[in-house]
Amino acid sequence: MADPIIDLSNISVTFKQGKQVVHAVKDVTIEINKGDIYGIVGYSGAGKSTLVRTINLLQAPSEGTVTIDGTTFFKDHRQQISNKELQEKRRNIGMIFQHFNLLNETSVIENVLFALKHSKLDDDAQEKKALELLDLVGLKDKAEFYPVQLSGGEQQRVSIARALANDPEILISDEATSALDPQNTNQILDLLKDLNKKLDLTIILITHEMDAVKRVANKIAVMEYGQIIERGPLQKVFLQPQQELTRQFVGGSLAAIDTLKAFDLEHLADDQELLQLVYDAGNVTKSIIIELYKELQVEVSMLYGNVEVLAGSPVGTLFVVIKGAPDKRQQAIDFLRNNNVTVTKIDDRRIWNE
Ligand SMILES: Nc1ncnc2c1ncn2[C@@H]1O[C@H](COP(=O)(O)OP(=O)(O)OP(=O)(O)O)[C@@H](O)[C@H]1O
Ligand SMILES: [Mg+2]
Repeated sequence: MADPIIDLSNISVTFKQGKQVVHAVKDVTIEINKGDIYGIVGYSGAGKSTLVRTINLLQAPSEGTVTIDGTTFFKDHRQQISNKELQEKRRNIGMIFQHFNLLNETSVIENVLFALKHSKLDDDAQEKKALELLDLVGLKDKAEFYPVQLSGGEQQRVSIARALANDPEILISDEATSALDPQNTNQILDLLKDLNKKLDLTIILITHEMDAVKRVANKIAVMEYGQIIERGPLQKVFLQPQQELTRQFVGGSLAAIDTLKAFDLEHLADDQELLQLVYDAGNVTKSIIIELYKELQVEVSMLYGNVEVLAGSPVGTLFVVIKGAPDKRQQAIDFLRNNNVTVTKIDDRRIWNE
């Protein structure tokens, strides 16, 4: 197999502030292949931004090595590489952020041209390139507009055009859709997916929104307290989440949470239990829910159900309340698990009661 385009090996990042020491990233090893859209999810403070900042050496690692396209960087690297060299390397990596970071005093096209000021192209060629980039993100007719005259989604498109100005192989998106409404979020995500295909662009998508990852990523890593606690192909992580936090993220789709809020889940009877079921919807051979009642006399009420296509494969999610004696309920859960359904008992309903 080809070498990964990004290879982070045993990365730690420690910040010292006076007497306080913050271990923002702890011994993270991750490989990202060319053409991946790699989602990194985790709650605030998990270390996501710090980790990706090591990729373009905006943040030097305290330990470990960063290998990009075969070139290795490490903690003392800054002493060995000239600023010029570093700048050149960084041009291979575009970044977009939550707050667009556009120059508000200049037009859209000037924002893109600004990123081309080190390029070897002459002025005409730069202008042509900037217009091509704006065309690529669907904004050619707004080249002379100013950022304040654009919607949030359009401003993010400008920042994407700017990030792509030097033909990077890698794009890092750090919460780039967090300030956008759902419709603009989906449009930007679809644009990223499109660019990934058209340009063979490798994308790292940092987000706390699982829906974003589900829409476009092919792989996912979950971060907590500076570590990657789970990772893998999107569908696998969804079908077989190993960690509690991952299960929370998997079940935490906005649609599911909105629906579950409508039920009085605080007051389930003693013989009732709320379960999240996740299964490979391309491989359903019998109606498992009907079997539960037939075989075990466990009643199942469905609260929420959905099938989504994740990285090309259908994955089903159900939230159900089962009702029956404790031993029957346990048998039902075993039965489901034997039928390759991932069952999570939802004891902590905070995610949708907040
Ligand atoms: N320059 C810094 N100096 C000191 N501490 C820092 C610095 N940058 C980050 N940290 C700390 O490192 C930890 C991880 O921060 P980081 O910004 O990487 O998290 P994150 O997962 O990106 O969070 P968010 O989702 O809020 O963006 C936090 O505890 C943060 O306070
Ligand atoms: Mg961050």
